[in-house]
Amino acid sequence: MTSAWDQIALMESSSPVADQLEKTAGLWVLELLNLPPEAFVGFVTGTTMAHVSALAAARQYLYQKKGYDLAEHGLQNAPQLKVVLSEEVHISVLKALRLLGFGRSQLNIVPCDSQGQIIESAVPEFSDNTILVLQAGNVNSGSSDNFHTLIPQAKRAGSWVHVDGAFGLWARASSAQSALVKGVEEADSWAVDAHKWLNTPYDCGICIVRHKHALREVMTTSAAYVETQDMWQAKDMLPEFARRARAVEVWAAISELGVQGIQVLIERCCLYAKMLAEGLELLGFKVLNEIVLNQVVACLPDITLQRAMLQKVQQSGECWFGQTIWQGQEAIRLSVSSWATTEDDIQRSLKAIADAIDKVKYADGMVRQS
Ligand SMILES: Cc1ncc(COP(=O)(O)O)c(C=O)c1O
Repeated sequence: MTSAWDQIALMESSSPVADQLEKTAGLWVLELLNLPPEAFVGFVTGTTMAHVSALAAARQYLYQKKGYDLAEHGLQNAPQLKVVLSEEVHISVLKALRLLGFGRSQLNIVPCDSQGQIIESAVPEFSDNTILVLQAGNVNSGSSDNFHTLIPQAKRAGSWVHVDGAFGLWARASSAQSALVKGVEEADSWAVDAHKWLNTPYDCGICIVRHKHALREVMTTSAAYVETQDMWQAKDMLPEFARRARAVEVWAAISELGVQGIQVLIERCCLYAKMLAEGLELLGFKVLNEIVLNQVVACLPDITLQRAMLQKVQQSGECWFGQTIWQGQEAIRLSVSSWATTEDDIQRSLKAIADAIDKVKYADGMVRQS
């Protein structure tokens, strides 16, 4: 409906209804994720663009505190900033930093433990020249960094803390899972997707920034033909100018599911991830991660069999998962995040995997003994 309606959601006068639904959806997102009510919520194409927007605001904020006018003088003689991030950082953060002109020599990469969490003793000293990027929901293991200890340290030193919570931040919406992301509300900015766990159509990420003036200073635009009284219009807060009314889909999903429905969705996916992991173990897989959220990483002792099985399952059309490298080990990676996934789908997926293993073994002349 949003596509057919085809609103241009750049400011209130171009589409008052889209504007109102966007503001309402933004407030609901803050409530669901239990984030500061004063933060700005903007709807962008995905978490990648949410990173770009939030990190641009971070830089603006830190420079402003130092009295450096970035808009006037540009980056050439700007004070050096350092970005502290984990070796498990998602590639989208690296892309966002590159787009913003951060070089590799400005990155301070911190090692992680076996679950993909930043090792706190390895974190360098923070300062008011630092942007710390943390993660809620590792793309492989689903683990989150220890926000409740790392964020206060960084904030005390005057650093900006940004959180990549593309799917993992939704753990906040579940009382059973929210302990995993305890303390994340103390960060300065958050990037999260609606097109992942909230299951809106693709092209829907959410950028949340506590210090909204910093974001506005980077994004604001002005021309006689688009002047407005409202300081916080999308055109002044986000990278795009003309944009689709993607927040309508967020509004619709939250209206339909409600707080309870979202909690049930998150918890159901986490339960199914556990079922998958148990089923894989029965099929001879080693599960490589602690199943804390909706992610499962597993491997077979025979890598040739694993690769052939993966290809067969993908070809079967029964379910889809891909491969990854986890802690140096080639593995399969399964992610449960669809509202439509049922327990029957989990059993069908496990059967598809078992059948694929049998077929590969049979083709090799080694019929499975069961
Ligand atoms: C942890 C994490 N961060 C960032 C992203 C990038 O999100 P998007 O594709 O919406 O830009 C993803 C997507 O897979 C992700 O899992």
